Amino acid sequence: MPLDLLLAIDPAWSRGDGVTVDPELGAHVAELSSLEAALGVFYVSATEALAAASDLATLRERQLALLGRERGAVTHALAEMPSLSVEDRKRRGRGLNLIKRWLAEAEERRRRALEAAAPSADLIDVTLPGQKPWVGKAHVLAQVRDELLDLFHGLGYSVYTSREVELDRYNFGKLNFAPDHPARDAHDTYFVSDDVVLRTHTSPGWVRAMEERKPPLRLVFPGRVYRAEQIDASHMDQFHQMDGLFVDRNVSMADLKATLNTFARSIYGPKTRTRLIPIYFPFVEPGCQMDAACVVCDGSGAMKTADGTRRCSVCGGGGWIELLGAGMVHPNVLRAVGYDPEEVTGFAFGMGVERIAMVRYGIPEIRRFLENDTRFLGQF
Ligand code: DAH
Repeated sequence: MPLDLLLAIDPAWSRGDGVTVDPELGAHVAELSSLEAALGVFYVSATEALAAASDLATLRERQLALLGRERGAVTHALAEMPSLSVEDRKRRGRGLNLIKRWLAEAEERRRRALEAAAPSADLIDVTLPGQKPWVGKAHVLAQVRDELLDLFHGLGYSVYTSREVELDRYNFGKLNFAPDHPARDAHDTYFVSDDVVLRTHTSPGWVRAMEERKPPLRLVFPGRVYRAEQIDASHMDQFHQMDGLFVDRNVSMADLKATLNTFARSIYGPKTRTRLIPIYFPFVEPGCQMDAACVVCDGSGAMKTADGTRRCSVCGGGGWIELLGAGMVHPNVLRAVGYDPEEVTGFAFGMGVERIAMVRYGIPEIRRFLENDTRFLGQF
């Protein structure tokens, strides 16, 4: 009776060296061959196939083909035994049983080796340095904006979100810019069409809010603004502002001054000294600019260096930094929205968000804000 065991060895199986799964391969093959030559040949191929299984699934597949209860080659060969002569049955039976045992051992050794090499989910090396998850955070401008919103919320202001693409007459006309008035020269404007612009400041929000609502009003207008500027270290074609507006009966310049001092001291520190100087904006009367004593040189205009002093680079030596524009809402603006300037008065202010961040953190380059370089943004 021929032995068809070898048919169980799939020629496509990769061959390893049997030695790694059976250290006694030589002795085992010799013993099997002395019983029946085909048994030795089969055993070598079968052990090599097990040794070469590169993962657990492959090993399992080969184990089933060799030793499996249903389709295992050894199982089949054993089942054919009753048809053999007594003499053949004795030799082959002994050989097949040895093969069965040794292959089972070989399979187990290979399985152990694969399991040991596989990374295990429940093996944690607590001595390895941890993997720090990347955590995002708010952009520095969003942080400053949120801080301002918190501050003004505390002073009773609500947020009014106004459009970035604005009608010319809201950006200028209703804010008391006379046609062709040189005040427009300070606003290098992007025109979308003849009467539509990208807003050059957040002040048009006041007009929209006042047209929609009745006084009293206490609002802030945060948002992005656009100017067709020549770009340099302190000018961009887009940046952020926050205007504020307070309209009620008997609102005075004193209220404005108190509000702005609260703002300056909250942002730059409780000891911050401020000054108001008169300046022209078409939409306020009187109009003013608020300066703070330079936060870097404390108003002295000079900075200490290793070899003496030099001009402070933040205030340019003047000792003061310009913080914002402000003033009492012009009666023409109140009239344009249907308010009676004899009944109500109001103050307004407008500040640049980038500028606040630059002065506070000593950022010399406005372009950094838009570059999305996490080495820069990660510092705040
Ligand atoms: N809108 C002005 C600008 O962008 C800034 C400004 C000045 C805003 C005075 C105000 C204000 O609210 O009262 O140049």
